Amino acid sequence: MNVKKTFVAATMLAGTMTALSVMSAGAAQAQGALVMYCGVQEEWCRAMTTAFERETGIKVSMTRKSSGEIYAQVKAEAANPRADIWWGGTGDPHMQAAEEGLTEEYKSPKMGELQDWAVRQWEQSKNRTVGIYSGALGFGYNTELLQSKKIPELKCWADLLKPELKDEVQVADPNSSGTAYTLLATIVQIMGEDKGFEYLKALHKNVNQYTKSGAAPAKAVALGETTAGITFMHDMVTMVVDKAPVKVVAPCEGTGYEIGSMSIIKGAKNLDSAKKFYDWALTADAQKLGADAKSYQVPSNKNTPVPPQAPKLTDIKLINFDFAKYGSSTERKRLLSKWDNEVKNLPK
Ligand code: G6P
Repeated sequence: MNVKKTFVAATMLAGTMTALSVMSAGAAQAQGALVMYCGVQEEWCRAMTTAFERETGIKVSMTRKSSGEIYAQVKAEAANPRADIWWGGTGDPHMQAAEEGLTEEYKSPKMGELQDWAVRQWEQSKNRTVGIYSGALGFGYNTELLQSKKIPELKCWADLLKPELKDEVQVADPNSSGTAYTLLATIVQIMGEDKGFEYLKALHKNVNQYTKSGAAPAKAVALGETTAGITFMHDMVTMVVDKAPVKVVAPCEGTGYEIGSMSIIKGAKNLDSAKKFYDWALTADAQKLGADAKSYQVPSNKNTPVPPQAPKLTDIKLINFDFAKYGSSTERKRLLSKWDNEVKNLPK
């Protein structure tokens, strides 16, 4: 065996490997990374992460949480932000964060492709948050449980107060959940604040659990753990698509809706990657991933097909939801602490 030749070959190989690893480290640096806080259903968060990584080579570290929880985390980390992009969840905490200067101004070249309601969200937040999807609030019930309890069909918000539904209604806590905050703001806008809080106190008697996440009651209804659950209508539709005995209701009195939003975190360490994600997430192709992951919101890009399963917003009695007011820092804090003081801990 020629020791010298072997040595030369080994040195060359080592050299090549070092060059390769230097190159790949350099390439990784050039491609960057992205830390994302994700506010929709886990399946959709994962689909977005995988597709973005595949398309750009940018590695994504994703955490899924509820809307109010992400807001609290972004606020707590403001001095040394960990996340770069906050994608999804209801618009109210995105609006609050915008007002409090926790997020960055950005104008995407994709703005021209968006629905008016998505652009309005961006204008109202002074360019700090943009609409990515929309969906109406409502409720759902387990048809088998309702029948076995001999309760007639539920059609209105008022029906959820029936004494037969004691401990049979589930909804999230509005402090953690944007869904439940949308309920709070919706009821106050439909009934007025005094009557609205009377309603929420009466509803409290029937609530078996205030969950952390807004969509959790949909799963509980599907599994027969609760007769009724208040969620966005599209979250109940997912259960119907999965063949659960669930009926989705657009409440007869009218209802509110969300503008699911996206913001770039102020002081983002990977700002370029955050902007790349932002532009990509507004494209029609990226928005199609929602329906593939069984999330049936109305997408904000005009060229994204509305999933046929999505509740038709034009058929639902939607209120003229005041997003600026109910997303403002003072109003959001005031309503949440009023709910904590007057509703959450009421004896049943
Ligand atoms: C679900 C819905 C989204 C909504 C989100 C809010 O994921 O599909 O449309 O934005 O819940 O979550 P939260 O847990 O904050 O109520």
